[in-house]
Amino acid sequence: MKENNNRAAITGTGAFLPAKRLTNYDLERMVDTSSEWIIKRTGIKERRIVEDGVATSDLAAIAATKALEDANVSPKDVDLIITSTITPDSLFPSTSCYVQKKIGAKKAGAFDVLAACAGFIYALSIGQNYINSGAMNTVLVIGAECLSKVTDYTDRTTCILFGDGAGATVLQRGNKRSHILSTFLGADGNHTDVLSLPAGGSKMPPSTKTLQERLHYIKFRGREVFKLAITNLTELITKTVTSSNLTIDDISLFILHQSNFRIIEATMERLKIPREKIFHNIEKYGNTSSASIPIALDEAKKEGRLKPGDLVLLAAFGGGLTWSSSIVRW
Ligand code: ACO
Repeated sequence: MKENNNRAAITGTGAFLPAKRLTNYDLERMVDTSSEWIIKRTGIKERRIVEDGVATSDLAAIAATKALEDANVSPKDVDLIITSTITPDSLFPSTSCYVQKKIGAKKAGAFDVLAACAGFIYALSIGQNYINSGAMNTVLVIGAECLSKVTDYTDRTTCILFGDGAGATVLQRGNKRSHILSTFLGADGNHTDVLSLPAGGSKMPPSTKTLQERLHYIKFRGREVFKLAITNLTELITKTVTSSNLTIDDISLFILHQSNFRIIEATMERLKIPREKIFHNIEKYGNTSSASIPIALDEAKKEGRLKPGDLVLLAAFGGGLTWSSSIVRW
């Protein structure tokens, strides 16, 4: 493949997880569940939860600052901030605008992306294309969530899964060695009802009824999503590698959205990918939606699992339905 040194590369990563832990044992005291059940069905042992008064942009700004420091870039040089989130500070202004102020990125444009758990790679693809086209030099791409604010802690089928956190990446023009090779996006609006947060938008504005019916919390049909996720991710990963003229064996590390360890494991088994090539941290943080991939990227880098020249495959599946993938040459 011809190398093009105008292509976008990830030149910095950062992550932030709130200090407060919500363990399976804490959940045992809140709903009818057991730590054993949660670990067996999801792989999750604990998640991080924000204190009252903390918003998504607070987590995002810390992760963004760390990513800028890692890339040795001043906030003043950021051209654009894109935040992927399903738990924005407010319906508008965008969370990216709050982040812009908090980090002092005075000249940056700012907007949010909503593609649920697949959203970070959607945002990455936008940043990638602004840089590849030559329109911008430095784009901050963030995935951040306060899912604890939209989790129903009286519903044992959903409350065991979610956690809060943020991850960020700095995109700049790459070099021969390091760049984003490809990104793929997809969606299927026929399944909008299997995974959603029903109330609070224009279709079902907030009312006493929506509050009483607990419709401001995440709802899903777990078993259906589980099956759709495995089928879809298996096809997506196959398509992603073949359309880049690569094979599964060429990929050094697979970072999948951390939704449920059994979803990751079943997908990897179908694709015959060895365990040592799978990154996971779901046991510590649960499902952090948009934030899970950038947090994982930052941890994988710090653990020395991303070596110069390695090919890393990112893939995610979420509400919408939406899905996305990317191959990054580190
Ligand atoms: N503790 C104990 N028992 C439970 C719990 C719990 N926390 N939750 C459900 N059960 C029970 C059910 O009631 C059911 O009982 P029954 O057989 O008597 O009816 C039994 O356990 C099995 O339930 P299933 O839903 O079939 O369990 P499953 O193995 O599918 O695991 C899970 C459930 C973990 C939710 C799984 O389906 C899953 O991960 N699905 C995908 C979840 C999802 O939507 N992820 C994306 C989230 S959205 C986003 O990321 C923004």
